[in-house]
Amino acid sequence: MSKPLSQVDLIREAFHYQSRFEGSTMVFKVDFPVTEDPLFPYLMKDLALLAQTGFHVVIVPGAKEWIDAVLREYDIVSSYSGNARITTEAAIPFVEMAAFHVATRFMTGLAAAHTDAVIGNFVRAQGLGITGGVDMAHTGAVKKIRIDSIKRILEQGMIPILPCIGWSSSGKPYNVPSDEIALAASAALGAVKLFIVSLGNKLNAESYAIPETVQREESGRIGRLSIQEAGAILEKNWKAPGADRGLEEISLALRACRQGVDRVHIINASEEGAVLRELFSNLGSGTMVYADEYESIRALKNADIQDILRLMEPLMQSGVLIRRSADDIQEKQADYVVFGIDAQIHACGALHEWGDNQGEIAAIATDPLYADKGLGRRIVRYLIDRAGKLRLRRVFVLTTHTQDWFESLGFKESTVESLPEKRRKTYDRSRMSKIFALDL
Ligand SMILES: CC(C)(COP(=O)(O)OP(=O)(O)OC[C@H]1O[C@@H](n2cnc3c(N)ncnc32)[C@H](O)[C@@H]1OP(=O)(O)O)[C@@H](O)C(=O)NCCC(=O)NCCS
Repeated sequence: MSKPLSQVDLIREAFHYQSRFEGSTMVFKVDFPVTEDPLFPYLMKDLALLAQTGFHVVIVPGAKEWIDAVLREYDIVSSYSGNARITTEAAIPFVEMAAFHVATRFMTGLAAAHTDAVIGNFVRAQGLGITGGVDMAHTGAVKKIRIDSIKRILEQGMIPILPCIGWSSSGKPYNVPSDEIALAASAALGAVKLFIVSLGNKLNAESYAIPETVQREESGRIGRLSIQEAGAILEKNWKAPGADRGLEEISLALRACRQGVDRVHIINASEEGAVLRELFSNLGSGTMVYADEYESIRALKNADIQDILRLMEPLMQSGVLIRRSADDIQEKQADYVVFGIDAQIHACGALHEWGDNQGEIAAIATDPLYADKGLGRRIVRYLIDRAGKLRLRRVFVLTTHTQDWFESLGFKESTVESLPEKRRKTYDRSRMSKIFALDL
């Protein structure tokens, strides 16, 4: 009995995640050795499947080892400044050739999985110039990710591929580390997840000094790391840049979380289906590094009420939010949470219980100076988690201006009749608010 049941559970879980993340962007940074692994075609099939199911998949291929091989083949000596390759005038054409060759391996894999992909010049770069007395020549850093072009491709169901080359505004090519491209693309595209895909399970308790708080599985695998734990591992095990790929992966994950990516998954591509398992089952197969939302989201204190009223005032004036007084907020103070950075409040929201096991998510507002940084999304997710802990079966929202945004968070349009009775009675028909709901 247990086997079919667990399969059904898995299917349920997959549907749950699928509806939750559909239309969300996920960036896959894939190290070069993965392309030489016998399981690479299966990985490409899985990414194609995700794209076909409505996820927005972006691929950033790493090409380091292939670039090394091509430069060796053409007798071009690679020298490094720290961890960064110095890409000379003589080397850059070969680096471009190698980077695009690797990108085409992904094209080939995706073509076999009947999925369209586009290799593009999506990265604006600038040269590192003279760094520490060394001329870095054609080695560059990301200046800007051309998100509009990437989004146009994603909207057509295709997969953009970003090779490790960026161009200056005058068209000069630079070799840019793919980790940096993956980081910048994840942040700029508001990715919900970054996958760091490589070979081997580097992150286990045998390889590193691990803080006590970190949970290890029997196999020694580390399934989850908060950003604090990830930071502590980096501190305890410090090695010079370039000396340890496992630590580099943790460092990349940590930086991505700090730039607003909720979850980073470090995946071993030599396990079949590793990406799907990590994405669709809570068993996972790699290591997830997560930004601890609870760190910045907290309960509303008395002293915060004026701050959130300031945040909401322009929205109440324009009719986007219904008017609430300080007394109204105080009366339901326990329902409110705020998102604080350095003791300043930049977003707020509330979950009101209305009986019938339903909760209303309301008063979501983000400081315009902090717009598009994922604060609103995090508050909503936090409130959904809270509703889950309260064993509510459904959360809903009444909105006049934000339906698309709630849809992007997995909410579906619903009806006044579906509201709990108490809320139906207070529903103000003149506002013509739409109802969006999420089953938990
Ligand atoms: C809606 C709101 C909370 C979003 O906050 P935020 O912290 O900027 O949101 P996130 O960073 O999580 O998400 C940003 C994304 O949502 C999009 N977005 C923001 N407002 C939107 C809206 N009204 N409709 C559709 N999409 C919207 C942004 O364009 C951005 O898209 P991108 O990721 O493709 O660039 C904020 O705009 C706000 O305070 N709005 C007014 C109050 C309101 O409508 N509250 C909801 C009713 S309770």
